[in-house]
Amino acid sequence: MSVDPQATDASSLRAAMVDRLTSTGVLTDPKLRDALLRVRREVLLPHAYVRISGPGADPIDWRLLDGSHPEDHQEWLALIHSNESILLQRDGEPLDALARGPVTGGHMTSMTTYTPATVEVLQALGLAPGLRYLELGSGPGVCLALAATLTGPGLATGVERDGHMAAWSRHNLGRLGVGAAVVEGDALDGHRARAPYDRIHSGIGVPCVPPAWVEQLAPGGQLLTTLTTRTPSWPGQLLLTRSDRGRIEAVLRGRPRGYRPMLGYQWLSALDHRARIKADPGRARPTRLAPPPDDAYGFWLAAAYLAPGLARDFQAETMTIVAPREDSWAVAGPGDGTVRVHGPRDVWAELEDVRARWEAAGRPETYHVDLTGGPGHQHVTSGPGPKALTWTLPPLTTVPPQTT
Ligand SMILES: C[S@@+](CC[C@H](N)C(=O)[O-])C[C@H]1O[C@@H](n2cnc3c(N)ncnc32)[C@H](O)[C@@H]1O
Repeated sequence: MSVDPQATDASSLRAAMVDRLTSTGVLTDPKLRDALLRVRREVLLPHAYVRISGPGADPIDWRLLDGSHPEDHQEWLALIHSNESILLQRDGEPLDALARGPVTGGHMTSMTTYTPATVEVLQALGLAPGLRYLELGSGPGVCLALAATLTGPGLATGVERDGHMAAWSRHNLGRLGVGAAVVEGDALDGHRARAPYDRIHSGIGVPCVPPAWVEQLAPGGQLLTTLTTRTPSWPGQLLLTRSDRGRIEAVLRGRPRGYRPMLGYQWLSALDHRARIKADPGRARPTRLAPPPDDAYGFWLAAAYLAPGLARDFQAETMTIVAPREDSWAVAGPGDGTVRVHGPRDVWAELEDVRARWEAAGRPETYHVDLTGGPGHQHVTSGPGPKALTWTLPPLTTVPPQTT
């Protein structure tokens, strides 16, 4: 029997990827390990964009790697087996006849999820044979294929809003033969035809929980989603469980990363202000109660809601937080107890205020969400008592692109 050298190459890269995920402590579930070794990513990701331009460039230069082209093959194969998010689609373009090589302009509308994040989610959901799985915003179907491998054929369904992506991923998943279905539709509606589901996983960030998702969750089921605000910097992860008797519990926690928001929802960006902040960081003043460290996720999540409309530049030398709509910012000093502030909105004073409230509330790390009111009335609380932190999740409306 002759051995296909490309398949051998792909399978050894797959094994190396699994070893990396295991040795870094991310991958612990042996069944998911097997699934990662079995799912041939190269079938689902036959091309990949590489971004050439640096941050903030407009228009952006890209290069399309075609996995079937000998000159691109090795670079493409290494890329799709790295942990990186694989960029696949610009501005909702058709996906079946993309030309390889350089291209300028547009924004990515679909990509794979960073692999460790997919692993964490699939492990958290405890997927097992026989469970009915729904993925909302399934994109190219990498996570969906892994889920289908764990549940068994005929039980995993993806909902994808982009018609080209839905058709393309359906075709690729069909070639893979894992028995996953993809339907074209709006994730916010779930997919009633195959409900109820034992596990629901949203691959997109939503401002609050769509009622259809809760309705379509089976008794004993679990739902995991990113809750997004307009800030990309401090995402929340919501785990919702329905007990065997139907009781709903929803717990929200801050996370270092989350999924990008649903199509049509615009994140704020700190990047446009980078050059101006460098030129003029603002007027210096002493700090009262500076924000806690980066891994105080319970604080940063609360800040995303209680001091809304901020974005952090994580690449800046010292903590730099911008209110882009109000042309205001705060730049922490180099550990000398000072901060520089600029603009009409006192970003730092707001964060100091949230910090004082967060401390008074007992430094909560998790929050309970009451979903009984429906979108626009889903209330979050850190616990009982007058000092608890509370807020209401924003409604499901999308935010139109900013006109500047
Ligand atoms: C980041 S991709 C998911 C990748 C997937 N987790 C993986 O690794 O294979 C997110 C997808 O959600 C889709 N999407 C965004 N908003 C949506 C919506 N409202 N309904 C359905 N799909 C949506 C996008 O078109 C995109 O393909």
